[in-house]
Amino acid sequence: MKRLLCVFAVALLVTSGAVYAAKPAPKAPAKPAATATTMPSKGEKSAESTANPPPPAKPAPEGNCPAATEETAIPKIVNWPDRGVFGHYDMASVQRGFQVYREVCSNCHSLKFLSYRDLQQLGYTPDQVKAVAASVTVQDGPNDEGQMFDRPGRPSDHFKSPFPNEKAARAANNGALPPDMSLLVKAREGGEDYIYAILNGYEQAPSCVSMFPGMNWNKYFPPHQIAMPKPLNDGQVSFSDNSPNDLSHEAANVAQFLAWASEPHMEQRKEMGIKVLLFMFVFIGIMAAAKCKIWEDVR
Ligand code: HEC
Repeated sequence: MKRLLCVFAVALLVTSGAVYAAKPAPKAPAKPAATATTMPSKGEKSAESTANPPPPAKPAPEGNCPAATEETAIPKIVNWPDRGVFGHYDMASVQRGFQVYREVCSNCHSLKFLSYRDLQQLGYTPDQVKAVAASVTVQDGPNDEGQMFDRPGRPSDHFKSPFPNEKAARAANNGALPPDMSLLVKAREGGEDYIYAILNGYEQAPSCVSMFPGMNWNKYFPPHQIAMPKPLNDGQVSFSDNSPNDLSHEAANVAQFLAWASEPHMEQRKEMGIKVLLFMFVFIGIMAAAKCKIWEDVR
């Protein structure tokens, strides 16, 4: 009788463990493959109030223009497939996003923590990666004569930065520094939603606002006046798989790419976490059974 009770207790423990482990499943997006490319047409639903990075010290325009200082919450429009415990990247979307980065963003933004060989994770063959790397010229050296020399990029090189140094980057961008994108998705509240919102947030400035020279009005950028000119437009990048290339799809793809760039090993990390949890539950079951066995004669 006691043994039966013990077995029952162990079974209960194991099943409750399994149920607990499986619980987050509904959080995983219902249609992961299509999400980043499916843009719901519903209106923007503001969700969280954003405490975005502190605005650079730019003087606020006039006091009787609330639009100049009011922050707009970052809407959650796209159902990102990489969110949640079982989330994973939509690699086709990441590939398209890389195309957007390469053709557009890489003219100003560096991605210095990524190497060309990392692109193999996206499904590119070693030869394709070699070709991408070889399309840039990098400085190497010094050689035996002490001279620096130029050579084509190799897969082991880090992504080439568009500007040789910060001063050059600022000089070309109205004094503002285009931030490195390696960790941008992690560094900004809202992550991919923030990137997506900035790219879609260019608007005509409210009439009461006086714009600084060379600045652009962006609804979602915390101080609203952004030095980056609107980088993406409908149809700007033609995807090799002929998928839709309106602004919102381009933006969703590049946001998904930047999420991957900021954590290329996210899928392995989550997989390992789930395995560890499963092992723990089984192990607890075995330990509970052993405890019952050892103590079965003691009353
Ligand atoms: C012509 C140069 C240029 C291009 C091309 C460009 N950017 Fe920018 N970007 C900038 C500059 C400069 C800033 C800094 C703006 C500021 O601080 O006012 C910036 C800022 C940003 C920010 C806000 C960063 C923050 O600190 O919160 C995001 C997001 C961004 N860029 C994304 C992109 C994406 C995605 C692309 C490609 C589709 C792109 N940019 C292409 C110049 C550029």
